[in-house]
Amino acid sequence: MKDYQYHIFSPYRVCTLGAHVDHQHGLVTGFAIDKGVDLFFDIREDSNVVLDSETFTGHVEFDIAMPSLVKQGDWGDYARGAKFALQKRFKLLKGITGTIRGSIPVGGLSSSAAVLIAYVMAFAKANGIQMEAFEVMKIASEAEREYIGLNNGLLDQACIALGKKDHLLMLDCESNEYRLIPKAANMPEFELGIFFSGLTRSLMSSDYNLRVAECKTAAWLVEAYENIPLKEQSKTFLRDVSESMFKIHRDKMPPRFARRAEHFFSEHKRVREGITAWETGNLEWFGSLSKASCESSIHNYECGSPELIAIYNAMLTTDGIYGGRFSGAGFKGACIAIVDPTKKEQIEKEITEKYLAKFPQYKNTFKVYFCKSDDGARFQ
Ligand code: GLA
Repeated sequence: MKDYQYHIFSPYRVCTLGAHVDHQHGLVTGFAIDKGVDLFFDIREDSNVVLDSETFTGHVEFDIAMPSLVKQGDWGDYARGAKFALQKRFKLLKGITGTIRGSIPVGGLSSSAAVLIAYVMAFAKANGIQMEAFEVMKIASEAEREYIGLNNGLLDQACIALGKKDHLLMLDCESNEYRLIPKAANMPEFELGIFFSGLTRSLMSSDYNLRVAECKTAAWLVEAYENIPLKEQSKTFLRDVSESMFKIHRDKMPPRFARRAEHFFSEHKRVREGITAWETGNLEWFGSLSKASCESSIHNYECGSPELIAIYNAMLTTDGIYGGRFSGAGFKGACIAIVDPTKKEQIEKEITEKYLAKFPQYKNTFKVYFCKSDDGARFQ
């Protein structure tokens, strides 16, 4: 690769607790990790954006000063999305020439938010725009929702933009208040295991948006039974209704909607407990909550694939794993776990054997990685 003047590292994220609740304004937790996306670039004198990728084929070119057009259906859409969301606030005149690459080829760690954040930071730099990490997070999130079309919440962008090494990020997706909670002095060392199933699929083709709509329908039903005036569905969130209201009406609603709400309210409690577990250095407790979160994802939220469930089940019987769950939306990709670093070798061996005994077809694509928590996206 040629030499570039600037280099942004934008990490992937893992969410240990607080899954599928960000889009309903719930509480989430997570980490930025030391694997992610690197964007190398130079600032141009003209308004062209010229990009290459070491991961995807093809060359992307567009004019950053022109109005945003519709998606083109290629990897360049993430750069176009970043331009779209920035253009709503700033005048963009200068483009970049750059190359992007990912450090590990894994689905489920939110590479889409990582690349969006890298492009937002690069285009801002090229155009002399100063931004706090919090604003980068909001702009990247708008790009993903409004341009890419995924109705997700702020979990991914928050971990990637705001994460801090050895700190657990806790974000309240209703108020957008967040805390970075340091690793307690008495907490044992830990690392994050990533067990990549070998299965890749874009979230845009999964049931992700359907689940979001089901959650909103559950909130609507509770509000309707309570005679609370309804708002448009896009402005309706499970966080707006209380668990006690839900309990009064749950048996009247079609069970699938009740299960989505059950996930939301139980996850809310787990995150609150998880924060105490983390603050007191109790990784066993934190890990068991992460496992309970995965169980609820399987049974109440009904995501996951047979592959991810097999990895999760293998994790339950492997020594050295405090806990873990599907990573991200859980429709594809990976399971993540909090692990004892002294047992990594044995963990890799056991999970690989157990998984491949069930799914031998992934012999060449199943991968195990171990990583550490890290700081959020930054210039290197
Ligand atoms: C994906 C979405 C996030 C979040 C998680 C599930 O990663 O992009 O907003 O909803 O799934 O917790």
